[in-house]
Amino acid sequence: NYMKDDNVSQETKNLIASLPSDKDFMGYGLYNYKGCWYYPNTLQAVLDFQKHFKPRGTDIILASLPKGGTTWLKSLVFAVVHRDKYSENTQTHPLLSQNPHDLVPFLELELYANSQIPDLTKFPSPMIFSTHTHLQALREATTKASSPCKIVYVCRGIKDTFVSGWHYRNMLHRTKMDQATFELMFDAYCRGVLLYGPYWEHVLSYWKGSLEDKENVLFMKYEEIIEEPRIQVKRLAEFLKCPFTAEEEECGSVEEILKLCSLRNLSNLEVNKKGTTRIGLDSQIFFRKGEVGDWKNHLTPQMAKTVDEIIECRLRGSGLIF
Ligand code: A3P
Repeated sequence: NYMKDDNVSQETKNLIASLPSDKDFMGYGLYNYKGCWYYPNTLQAVLDFQKHFKPRGTDIILASLPKGGTTWLKSLVFAVVHRDKYSENTQTHPLLSQNPHDLVPFLELELYANSQIPDLTKFPSPMIFSTHTHLQALREATTKASSPCKIVYVCRGIKDTFVSGWHYRNMLHRTKMDQATFELMFDAYCRGVLLYGPYWEHVLSYWKGSLEDKENVLFMKYEEIIEEPRIQVKRLAEFLKCPFTAEEEECGSVEEILKLCSLRNLSNLEVNKKGTTRIGLDSQIFFRKGEVGDWKNHLTPQMAKTVDEIIECRLRGSGLIF
């Protein structure tokens, strides 16, 4: 129901009336608030979380675009941060019995959704949260904190993100949408008019943030985690101030975490094959192929050229390359 407007206060309705608006590829209204597109209920939740969320210095916030590698990042960070607790008895690891999205809740899509104002002090520290908002929107909440918390962003190439999103929609609706809808959705990505879009604004917000504040914002790439998983997980642990010790490395702790968090392992667990997440989604729809370059099976060369040109133009001069 995040696309709807049944949880929107009168104040937010007035705000929405003043915002640039457009429609998503399904015809649902999207509103542009401070450079980012939202559905009404999502905007309400973002405003609520900006107003009420006050991170503790020990909190970790994971950020991503939908289909950018969120599930993998959630499981990796959870496994890295809590590795001491489960190193003795790996059979009791929470990732074996719970979906990563239930271990690392979304701020605006779960905790602050439906006009809820949760009491987050009940969560043990360190707590890991996640968000799909761009960095400027997240900063409106985090600047209230007395000490900065760590933010980890995962970015994935736009073509694979788009194709993953297409499959996700089909799985969500349990039906394969037609070619015309595929093209409409592609057009929406190219125009940037989609929830949390435009893609390039999102990616650039975290890219620039990571350059300006290396200590607290880490920018990771899905493709790099696939290509050099050990290096990237060690980089993640160092950033989170819990680097792997020489002893841990020797006894294969990095490999263990990678194995635990692998797509193959997670997607074959009973909880992820059959269960539903706390927000009511089939757990299995978060796991598919997990490959780099699957877009080649879905986009025509012309489509790829179009979107590549857009991205090149939008990212030019930023130093961020794919
Ligand atoms: P594909 O649809 O290309 O397979 P998100 O987690 O942001 O929703 O993104 C989902 C994408 O990440 C899907 O990509 C999914 O298969 C992939 N994914 C999920 N869990 C993964 C894991 N443990 N390792 C690698 N990729 C994973």
